Amino acid sequence: MYILAIVGSPRIDGNTNYLTDQALHEATNLGARTEKIIVSQHRLNPCLAHLNCRRLDSCAQQDDGTWMLDKFCKADGVILATPVYYYDVSAWMKIFIDRNYFLNRHGKKCQAKAVGIIVVAGGAGIEDTVQTLNRFVNSSSFNNIAEDKRFIVAGYASGPGDVRSDRRLIAEARDMGKHLVASLKE
Ligand SMILES: Cc1cc2nc3c(=O)[nH]c(=O)nc-3n(C[C@H](O)[C@H](O)[C@H](O)COP(=O)(O)O)c2cc1C
Repeated sequence: MYILAIVGSPRIDGNTNYLTDQALHEATNLGARTEKIIVSQHRLNPCLAHLNCRRLDSCAQQDDGTWMLDKFCKADGVILATPVYYYDVSAWMKIFIDRNYFLNRHGKKCQAKAVGIIVVAGGAGIEDTVQTLNRFVNSSSFNNIAEDKRFIVAGYASGPGDVRSDRRLIAEARDMGKHLVASLKE
C-alpha cells in the first residue's frame, strides 16, 4: 500500500507540512509505504496551455512534473495538503493540479482509492480551499472517490509551526493516516 502526499506549502517548518507528517507517520506505523513531495523543493513549471498534449509523448514542460505525476498515478492513496493563500490553494498546489491536464489528455489518472485533504489558514478561506481540492478530486483526474473515502483536516494556524500546539488538529491528522490505511485495506 503506497500513500503519497503532495504538499503545497514552501515552509518546511510550517503547519501544513507538520500535519502532513502526522498523517504519514501514522500510516507508516500501520504498514503503508509513504512518500511526501513538497512541490516547492522541485522544479515544477505551470501548464503552458498549448493544447498539444495528445500529440506529445511527454509534457512540454520538461521538469520534475514527469516523475511527480508518475508517482501520483500509481499511489493507492493520496494526501493533498495546502495552506490557504488568498482564499484558495497555494500557487504551488495549483501548478500541480493544472499539470494533471497532460495526463487527462492521455486518458491517465490517479488510481487512488482514498484521499486525504489538509488545509491550514491564518483566519479565512478554508471552505473555498477545501472546495477547490474536492473539485479536483471530483475531476477526471481521479476515479470516483466516494465521500466516505475522503478525509478532511482543516483548521487555523498562522506562524510557522503554530499548529504544533493545536492538539485537536494533530489528533485529526493522525486519524487521517489511520482512516486512509483502513479504507485502503477494505
Ligand atoms: C501569500 C499568502 C497568502 C495568504 N492568504 C491567506 C488567506 O487568504 N486566508 C488566510 O486565512 N490566511 C492566509 N495566509 C496565511 C497562511 O494560510 C497561514 O500562515 C498558514 O498557516 C500557512 O501555512 P504553512 O505554515 O503550512 O505554510 C496567507 C499567507 C501567505 C504567505
